[in-house]
Amino acid sequence: MTQKSSAAPAPSPRTVTVTDNSTGKSWELPVHEAVLGPAVVDVRQLYGTTGLFTFDPGFTSTGSCESKITFIDGDEGVLLHRGYRIEDLAEHSDFMEVCYLLLHGELPSAAEKQGFEQTITYHTMLHEQLTYFYRGFRRDAHPMAIMVGVVGALSAFYHDSTDISDPHQRMVASHRLIAKMPTIAAMAYKFSIGQPFVYPRNDLDYAANFLHMTFSVPAEAYKVSPVLARAMDRILILHADHEQNASTSTVRISGSSGANPFACIAAGIASLWGPAHGGANEAVLAMLQEIGTKERIPEFIERAKDKNDPFRLMGFGHRVYKNYDPRASVMRKSCHEVLDELGIKDEPLLALAMELERIALEDDYFVEKKLFPNVDFYSGIILKAMGFPTSMFTVLFAVARTVGWVAQWKEMIEDPSQKISRPRQLYTGHAQRDFVPLSQRD
Ligand code: CMC
Repeated sequence: MTQKSSAAPAPSPRTVTVTDNSTGKSWELPVHEAVLGPAVVDVRQLYGTTGLFTFDPGFTSTGSCESKITFIDGDEGVLLHRGYRIEDLAEHSDFMEVCYLLLHGELPSAAEKQGFEQTITYHTMLHEQLTYFYRGFRRDAHPMAIMVGVVGALSAFYHDSTDISDPHQRMVASHRLIAKMPTIAAMAYKFSIGQPFVYPRNDLDYAANFLHMTFSVPAEAYKVSPVLARAMDRILILHADHEQNASTSTVRISGSSGANPFACIAAGIASLWGPAHGGANEAVLAMLQEIGTKERIPEFIERAKDKNDPFRLMGFGHRVYKNYDPRASVMRKSCHEVLDELGIKDEPLLALAMELERIALEDDYFVEKKLFPNVDFYSGIILKAMGFPTSMFTVLFAVARTVGWVAQWKEMIEDPSQKISRPRQLYTGHAQRDFVPLSQRD
């Protein structure tokens, strides 16, 4: 059963008083308690009663919505999906089960799981006409550029799942997005290397099918390694959702206007592409390659600490985690397993990454600022070892995060208090002034 957000958050006896020193007037603002994490001051009536806006660029102190999906305790390094620890899900569950959990609120029964897998499998193929879209892109197009375009184009093909007021259509759109994303991503890759598209194989599970569509060619038999399929499944689990991050907020904001789900997810992909967000795993690998040898690590650490140098240690730091990102620990372990399976002994980039991590974690600058490795620090090394080019790293993140975006989008649409997202601003430009005709300007 889909959980329905309540119209009003839990009331609390706590209030916060705001005083305007210029007039001496005070207003009491209600506080809403969270099940876990900080309570929130409800400022929805603030402008109406005080004529003031709040100011929070970057939303560092702003709760943008009420949600029941994911909880993060950044100080303790805890990540929960619907109450379950990410470490447990990565160890004992699989991606399809996590998708069901995020979408429906509960772990599935055996029958529900089987039914869900069947539904997702049923939607893996793309409308054949969509394949022509790829040909419109230059061969050297970044696969994320292709993803933004093709996912946005889904809305032109699946008209029977764009009525967002219909719960059935919402669910069909959600299933289609989760099911088709690996196909779209693998096709973006195949296009970029000039190989024929490979159709999905519905006898394979989600992760194995993705590897098959990415790495097999019609000329040869391809057997998916179960260890690599499991590693891919785990990477998908670790990236499935992460609360109100930039791309998820983008999806929610786009969706708040009533836009169709495919267009909203395309907007999320665009946001994810940035190097401060999903693009970081690509940037980590580029950084490790640039550092090159352990001897050069101190030089790069110094650069990361230098205020006048824009260089940052990629894969370090997080807006929310001020402790070890729990996903990074699982990823580190997975990294060793994958390299073992592939028979890669002494991968120099892994050795470099571990040394960089060790040195950074002992450095006062990183300790004081609570900068720990994040999920992207090790994922690039695994993906490279599996044979993915760096340009595909963020694409994989998008494949995994689609379920999170969709679950959050659905939750928002089903929230009776949902409104179009329309922030205000602190205007610091010119006051009103008279127009000067061109002939009179200096
Ligand atoms: N290397 C060096 N210094 C850093 C780093 C870093 N990676 N990250 C933050 N800092 C410093 C920053 O210079 C600032 O110092 P000061 O207070 O002296 O000005 C302080 O730490 C706080 O940084 P911030 O930029 O204000 O923090 P934020 O919460 O806005 O940024 C972040 C979070 C993830 C954008 C940032 O840590 C960063 O750019 N990290 C590298 C990129 C990266 O790995 N991103 C992946 C994030 S995890 C995947 C995802 O969720 O998408």
